[in-house]
Amino acid sequence: MSHRPDAPETGSAEPNLDFEGTTPYEDYVQADVLTHLQHPLSDDPGELVFLVTTQVMELWFTVIVHEWRTAADRLRADDVPGALAALKRSTYELQALNASWEPLAHLTPAQFNAYRSALGEGSGFQSAMYRRMEFLLGEKSASMLVPHQGAPRVHGELEKSLYEPSLYDEVLRFLARRGEDIPADVLERDVSRRYEPDPAVEAVWARVYAASDDSGRGRDEAGELLRLGEALTEVAELVWRWRNDHLVATRRAMGAKTGTGGSAGVAWLEKRAAKNVFPELWTARSHV
Ligand code: HEM
Repeated sequence: MSHRPDAPETGSAEPNLDFEGTTPYEDYVQADVLTHLQHPLSDDPGELVFLVTTQVMELWFTVIVHEWRTAADRLRADDVPGALAALKRSTYELQALNASWEPLAHLTPAQFNAYRSALGEGSGFQSAMYRRMEFLLGEKSASMLVPHQGAPRVHGELEKSLYEPSLYDEVLRFLARRGEDIPADVLERDVSRRYEPDPAVEAVWARVYAASDDSGRGRDEAGELLRLGEALTEVAELVWRWRNDHLVATRRAMGAKTGTGGSAGVAWLEKRAAKNVFPELWTARSHV
């Protein structure tokens, strides 16, 4: 990875070619492992990009889960700049994730059919890392653990994140520590259940947005809460875009057929995509 610090600055120095064992690049990146994890199930030449796009998205899910967990940790420590930095990184990563739809966004039904039957009952619905993202956003559901019963490590990680406060739970706890009027039943809710929007939380966000200019409080403090609200709104919008790009790609590739995972397909995805991420951040805007 590195340029040799001891190399003379002549401009003519060539990279090292000789290594005792595997290259330092390989040791760090494990490219040999990564590029031998592609095992298409059909003979169709279009399947590889479907498989690799899915794997690329799994890697982005992993990075984004890491960022949101970092943001939650930082908020728990009342470190707003640390939380904002992690959220900001995640928005760039979400944009890269969303851009990776492009190779699958134009499939015709015949192109998709060429390998669809080889997928059997396999479906992104069974992605545990995507589920961890949803859990961090507050979309908890114990039944989503069921598909992973046969995979102890995956099941264990998902179960742990089911019972941990979501990123949004940490945001609300932080707002309460800042003196905002978050109801006790929201703060003490069972975090393993889906977060349901609350009118009092909506009122807090409406105040944060209204107070960002000339509140009685110090402008810095109001500004900090506003920046947090906007960073979360950015995340919410980009997640919504992923869901919608997925929905449109699915509609193009298979119309109204049922999904390989057994759902009603597009109709089921439409319902999922209609959900607001961090709901009160959107509804509060009507009251500012
Ligand atoms: C054009 C290609 C694709 C089609 C036609 C498609 C189709 C579907 C369908 C019909 C569902 C609903 C569940 C089911 O019955 O299977 C679903 C769910 C899902 N798919 Fe895809 N998919 C595609 C590509 C991808 C890719 C590349 C990913 C990346 C990992 C992905 C991730 C997911 C996830 C995470 C869900 C669950 C969503 C939720 O729980 O709300 N899909 N997909």
